[in-house]
Amino acid sequence: MKKMLTRIGVRPESIKRAAIAMYEAEINAVIHARGGKAIVMILPDSVRIEIVDQGPGIPDVDLAMKEGYSTAPDTAREMGFGAGMGLPNIKKHSDEMKIDTEVGKGTTVTIIVRF
Ligand SMILES: Nc1ncnc2c1ncn2[C@@H]1O[C@H](COP(=O)(O)OP(=O)(O)O)[C@@H](O)[C@H]1O
Ligand SMILES: [Mg+2]
Repeated sequence: MKKMLTRIGVRPESIKRAAIAMYEAEINAVIHARGGKAIVMILPDSVRIEIVDQGPGIPDVDLAMKEGYSTAPDTAREMGFGAGMGLPNIKKHSDEMKIDTEVGKGTTVTIIVRF
């Protein structure tokens, strides 16, 4: 994604925001949902990133969005993850963020960053 955005002349600041937001959503899919897939759509004025997983879902999205809230297992914490700042960081670095989630089914995080 970074390479493609660079190639079409997107300013580094916007690329950085998109990369941080995407990274956090990907890490969440790996840590909390045993992985998932990324769909990236590049438009003339924005990039839309969807991270889709079939993990456990998020029972309380408002709570999950709180800074410092984390259910990450100790194994993830030992590797430096689980600070509870991922979702707040996605919010901070994106222009639009949407969480579609169903307990027992999975989660889709949609991120839009405008250039
Ligand atoms: N894709 C996901 N599937 C299930 N739960 C998630 C997912 N993403 C986030 N969560 C829940 O939201 C919480 C907060 O996420 P985040 O702010 O990224 O913190 P962290 O990943 O450090 O725990 C997680 O601890 C987890 O309970
Ligand atoms: Mg996280």
